[in-house]
Amino acid sequence: MKPSQYPHLELDIFTCFIGIILACILAFYYLYKCLPSFTFVLRDKETQDSLEKDLDKVIKEDSTKLIQKDSQREFMTKEKIEDKTILQEQIIKKKEALKKDRRLKEFGSNKGIVNPGLDCFLVSALQCFVSIPEFFSPYDEPEDMQCKESVGEMSVLNEIIAFRERYYQVSQDKVKVGSMRNYFDQEFPRYSQHDSCQYIMSLFEILQTEINKDKISSPSKHLETHSEVWNEYIKNHPSTIDQLFVGMYETCFVCKKCENSDIVYEEFKNIPLICNEENPNLGFEEFLTMPENIEESEFICRNCQEVFICEIFKQIIKFPKYLIMVFQRINPISQYKINSNVFYPLSFSQRVPSTKEQLTYNLESIISHTGTLSSGHYTATCKRDSKWVHFNDSSCNDLPANFDPTSLPNAYILFYKTESNCDI
Ligand SMILES: *[C@@H]1O[C@H](CO)[C@@H](O)[C@H](O)[C@H]1NC(C)=O
Ligand SMILES: [Zn+2]
Repeated sequence: MKPSQYPHLELDIFTCFIGIILACILAFYYLYKCLPSFTFVLRDKETQDSLEKDLDKVIKEDSTKLIQKDSQREFMTKEKIEDKTILQEQIIKKKEALKKDRRLKEFGSNKGIVNPGLDCFLVSALQCFVSIPEFFSPYDEPEDMQCKESVGEMSVLNEIIAFRERYYQVSQDKVKVGSMRNYFDQEFPRYSQHDSCQYIMSLFEILQTEINKDKISSPSKHLETHSEVWNEYIKNHPSTIDQLFVGMYETCFVCKKCENSDIVYEEFKNIPLICNEENPNLGFEEFLTMPENIEESEFICRNCQEVFICEIFKQIIKFPKYLIMVFQRINPISQYKINSNVFYPLSFSQRVPSTKEQLTYNLESIISHTGTLSSGHYTATCKRDSKWVHFNDSSCNDLPANFDPTSLPNAYILFYKTESNCDI
């Protein structure tokens, strides 16, 4: 080898080396400048690190804030939710108590009434009234409480209200008639048999007298329509009894000689149904076909001024909300009790003559009488809270769901109710 022989080569290697280094620098520069994606990685590695750090910080801060907020919110909502549930529970409890209270008030707590002896005629009637919330309800309103105070001396009304209060006392499993009995001692002496229907009518009359007494009858004027006649009546008789239990008959007498007609209006508080041994359906059939029943009888004709045969058309022009029907179980001749079976429906419809509206009546209560007139027993079967309950003095028994209230062979007094508007 002769190094001196190749001096250019040595220089060339050196130059090449420099060139390569330069090229590398250039290439690096080029890459650095012109390939952003590549450079981004390098350049932003640091920035990203710091950014990530910052983000972490922010997220941390925010999340702490968020967590704080959240926990606060959670705390609040938790409290609120707790409050809400407590409130809802309270509301539900209150509502249930109110419902129970209302049910107790409306339907009674289904308890017996103490019978000190032979008072079943009164006790069973009172059970039927407990089933009629409106019988007491006008006195539940504040304005009526004032009315209650102002009627301080209205004794039987106060007794009825006091009886209702006792009936609804949850702590008592049976209730006493109490001092209300005193007001009936004369008409219905204690420890003897009495007629339940007579008692109901007597109670109605006393209550009507007590509540209606301050009403001055307005001078009678000529009344044309059924509604005028009824409105005039109810204006002068605003009592609960008149509002709930009183209906009105229209009887038309037509003279067969001169054809002059006279119309007589007369209110009623019960409808008598005949008992017929051969045809148990007759009582109700007669009632349902009443407007078509034309009787003939002797009457003094106002026009002829003489006794003449008159045709009598009788119809009910005003139906009461509560219709009381009574089977005539006393034979008018022998004065013995008629123990025959009777028919009565669970519901029936009647047309109001003036409004042409169809009223549907549903059976609500039945007073049954077993035994004879001198030694019998009254019990009540009443619909309470849509279930039938049998009341026998101080005991009461729920009847099975399939109980048929129209199958009572000793039925005596029926209470029907219409939900339809029976105004005329
Ligand atoms: C009523 O109860 C008495 C006994 O407490 C009983 O002898 C009588 O048969 C009952 N009457 C009815 C109709 O259930
Ligand atoms: Zn005549």
